[in-house]
Amino acid sequence: MTNSPAEPIDVMLVYGTRPEAIKMAPLVHALNHDARFRPIVAVTGQHREMLDQVHNFFGIAADVDLDIHSPGQTLTQVTTRTLEGVGRVIEDRRPDAVFVQGDTTSAFAAALAGFYHELPVVHVEAGLRTGDIWSPFPEEGNRRLIGQLAALHLPPTPASKENLLRENFASETIHVTGNTVIDALLDAVKRYVPSGDAALDAAVSDPSHRLVLVTAHRRESWGAPMERIGEAVARLAREHPDVVFALPVHRNPKVREALLPHVSVLSNIIVTEPLAYGAFCTVMNRADIVLTDSGGVQEEAPALSKPVLVLRENTERPEAVEFGVARLVGTDSDRIFAEASRLLDDADAYAAMAHAVNPYGDGRACQRVLAATAELFGRGEAVADFDPARQ
Ligand code: UD1
Ligand code: UDP
Repeated sequence: MTNSPAEPIDVMLVYGTRPEAIKMAPLVHALNHDARFRPIVAVTGQHREMLDQVHNFFGIAADVDLDIHSPGQTLTQVTTRTLEGVGRVIEDRRPDAVFVQGDTTSAFAAALAGFYHELPVVHVEAGLRTGDIWSPFPEEGNRRLIGQLAALHLPPTPASKENLLRENFASETIHVTGNTVIDALLDAVKRYVPSGDAALDAAVSDPSHRLVLVTAHRRESWGAPMERIGEAVARLAREHPDVVFALPVHRNPKVREALLPHVSVLSNIIVTEPLAYGAFCTVMNRADIVLTDSGGVQEEAPALSKPVLVLRENTERPEAVEFGVARLVGTDSDRIFAEASRLLDDADAYAAMAHAVNPYGDGRACQRVLAATAELFGRGEAVADFDPARQ
């Protein structure tokens, strides 16, 4: 707890899943290098292997690990374990502020714990909305709830700021920072990191074929929609035997049981465990097309000029769609097959989508997050908002 203006501000970052860890990692490093702050990294452990993988890659060790993970965990379990655990950590460490990222259940419950302890909650990646509380579920609900609890809202883009203004949040509490994932990505793609999977590494370094990267995990797609995604990828692989498909599968058993029976039997589909961030970026950078329902991948792939087919009915990240680099294709098997085949078979259609745009950040999001937080504590001034049009 800060006693005098000369003392650093104790910022507690709380997160639990792979994407939060990736997006918080550059912030942890930036806070460590800024004398105004003293970061405390408190992980919930909502994800286990996939979280540890990110910490290994970025060289981060948690100060506190609640280790709440359990196989098949329910939303209620994640919420209550996080709420109680983070509450105890706040009482023990007495931070000055709590940082949460995005829209996971760890983020929501940590924001609630911060609020109950009357601390300012800083919401990184604020303001994303689909407008449909059921999609994505439960993320759309989580991010709206976090917004109600936050003292400082840090939307990544001007459009996400507009969403917050429409909901009547005070403009002086909102700063457009860009997404910290672009800070992480620009660092990660500089290192060429192999995956350690022989077939995948061979495919990545062999320029003689095209590569399609596929990821899927969304809760609202469990069951039939995920089956249809699996069917579509299998049909694409059968009808495009010259193309290699890389499919690092999320550890969730519900995802595996729906996808694996469709994709495991074809020799041009390389199924792997989740890839460490560096290796994933290497594959994404080599890929010709990305098929995904991931939030983070929708932000990263456009920065690498990769056409993205979004395996969802809606998106809270409309910017890449507006820039023409991403298309919403839903989870209908025939539609996914047709849209991906068009990109594989029609060079003009491919060229029309394969251009680099960076609506999500310029690699300086962390700097803006720190400046806005310092301003909240009267220790500096916020810097100019991120403006994609001025890159
Ligand atoms: C969570 C987030 C979602 C985010 C996603 C990123 C919630 C409700 N959902 O969804 O917003 O997009 O992470 O991947 O916060 N598992 C492991 N090891 C791991 C991770 C997961 O075994 O390292 C398995 C467990 O059986 C676990 C299941 O996956 O019960 C689901 O994990 P959970 O964090 O509850 O949900 P996700 O679908 O991963
Ligand atoms: N990612 C990774 N390894 C993988 C798949 C994805 O490191 O095998 C990274 C990806 O680059 C992105 C993040 O994980 O930064 C996205 O995580 P996920 O799709 O699980 O969650 P979402 O972003 O949808 O919440």
